[in-house]
Amino acid sequence: MAKLEEANNLNNAINKEVESLEVERLNHNFGFTQILKDINFSIKKGEVLSVVGPSGGGKTTLMHLCANLLDVEEGSIKNSFTSSAFAFQEARLLPWKNVIDNISLGLIAKGTKANIAKKMSEEIALKFGLEEEDFDKFPKDLSGGMKQRVSFARALVVEPSLLFLDEPFSALDIGLKMELQAHLIQMVKEKNLTILFITHDLMEAIRLSDKILLLEADPGHIIKEFTYDLAQESRDDKFVYNQTAKILQDETIINTFELQGIGFK
Ligand SMILES: Nc1ncnc2c1ncn2[C@@H]1O[C@H](COP(=O)(O)OP(=O)(O)O)[C@@H](O)[C@H]1O
Ligand SMILES: [Mg+2]
Repeated sequence: MAKLEEANNLNNAINKEVESLEVERLNHNFGFTQILKDINFSIKKGEVLSVVGPSGGGKTTLMHLCANLLDVEEGSIKNSFTSSAFAFQEARLLPWKNVIDNISLGLIAKGTKANIAKKMSEEIALKFGLEEEDFDKFPKDLSGGMKQRVSFARALVVEPSLLFLDEPFSALDIGLKMELQAHLIQMVKEKNLTILFITHDLMEAIRLSDKILLLEADPGHIIKEFTYDLAQESRDDKFVYNQTAKILQDETIINTFELQGIGFK
């Protein structure tokens, strides 16, 4: 028994080592329009990688391809992460399920017993700033911010190895945005969570990422990458503002976001 356990642990350790997402020579068209062109990158376990670029540049399409929500037509995506979860800009909750039942969806799908799933969901709901009196509420009775808390709790309660985030903070006020970002940073540190983060917000990308890929539009392709070595939990506002100011001087950023002549130069 002890031997078996040892072997399992070793297996887990090896799996952790090799977990990665590798995107190679990826192209994507919708109809006759090329949306993505020659995309190459990889994400390793524990890494936060952001894809930043203007609206309509193909970021969501890229994420859908990586998350296997869309078929790869040209090039390859190899994903060896053992599990994944999503959170989107809209919370996408099931309207006929209450807060706790929405959060426990993934656990139930994984076969977790109902009473254990309920307990885990309640714990994470509290952690994400929901209150006991909210547990029985249905999505129609929740504010936008509360819905987004539920959406994050639902994605993270299953302890995914890889988390896909598509502009999850875009509709949130600054306080809630920073609170949820802090939760993510903590989970990256404590659980070695890996994140593919899609955003058009440079500042939030700088707060969260180990690496930022800049995606230029028409067709979407990576034109530059920025790497940040300082641990996320050590990045204060000053670091984020300074780095954002620095990046906004970058010629490639100015051109990609079409910032010429609007005061950043
Ligand atoms: N299912 C689809 N069919 C056709 N065109 C699409 C589809 N999804 C997205 N597009 C188009 O692809 C381009 C990139 O969209 P998207 O990946 O959503 O960009 P982003 O997330 O960067 O704003 C846009 O021009 C969009 O209209
Ligand atoms: Mg999008």
